[in-house]
Amino acid sequence: MTKTTILIGIFAVALSGVAGANDVEKAYEVCAACHGANGEGNNDLNAPRIAGMPAWYSVLQLQNFKSGLRGTNAKDQYGTQMRPMAMTLTDDAAVDNIAAYVATLEAPKPEATVKGDVEKGKAAYATCAACHAADGSGNEALKTPPLAGQADWYVERQLQAYKSGVRGTDPKDGLGMQMRPMAMMLATDEAVRDVTAYIATLD
Ligand code: HEC
Ligand code: HEC
Repeated sequence: MTKTTILIGIFAVALSGVAGANDVEKAYEVCAACHGANGEGNNDLNAPRIAGMPAWYSVLQLQNFKSGLRGTNAKDQYGTQMRPMAMTLTDDAAVDNIAAYVATLEAPKPEATVKGDVEKGKAAYATCAACHAADGSGNEALKTPPLAGQADWYVERQLQAYKSGVRGTDPKDGLGMQMRPMAMMLATDEAVRDVTAYIATLD
């Protein structure tokens, strides 16, 4: 090989790398309409913050939406909005690529909106910490998502979704079924708000 062909080879690889990055950026434009250009989330559109979400968790949820483990319950008005979006990601590579891209996004921590008793919430969070970590950073080995940095209105809504069975009731949804009884331990709406308000204090 001559020096020129090697250079051309390197150039071609570099170009294809750039094209790949552009493709995923382009694909993310669809998502940005609801989740924001930086994944900051949008309360008005009910779309959670996804900036910096670990790729393994995005992949898990996108596949759940695609397969119908999430977003198919008739009462799940928000999940049913997200499901067709996940279905535009036609193969596993498209899911993996967009998840990897989402993980690189950075957005500030959302403002707290849920009012609750932070001290009571802290006590309740002791149970949650076993799986989601004391600092709310999540645990890949247990497949638990980070909670710190998530919008509080979304955390509250998911806890209610697990409680009411909108999420976590499909027998094939083993992880959702682990989470559901945890949410059910929060017996009142007040208890849900308290733990949510505490989670909002985590960094
Ligand atoms: C029409 C608005 C809309 C679009 C477009 C959209 N989403 Fe969503 N997305 C939502 C809503 C609403 C939810 C919350 C569903 C719920 O409450 O269960 C959500 C949830 C998610 C979740 C789950 C987050 C979690 O913490 O469990 C991920 C991941 C996600 N979206 C990624 C994407 C990606 C990637 C795209 C682009 C392919 C996309 N979304 C496009 C509205 C949208
Ligand atoms: C036994 C382990 C375990 C415990 C304890 C636990 N969780 Fe979870 N949690 C999970 C798993 C696994 C998931 C992901 C489930 C899925 O894919 O739907 C989850 C998901 C969640 C979600 C959804 C986040 C998102 O981005 O959509 C919230 C909110 C949550 N947990 C809050 C809590 C709170 C608050 C407590 C304490 C009251 C708690 N969890 C206790 C395992 C646990």
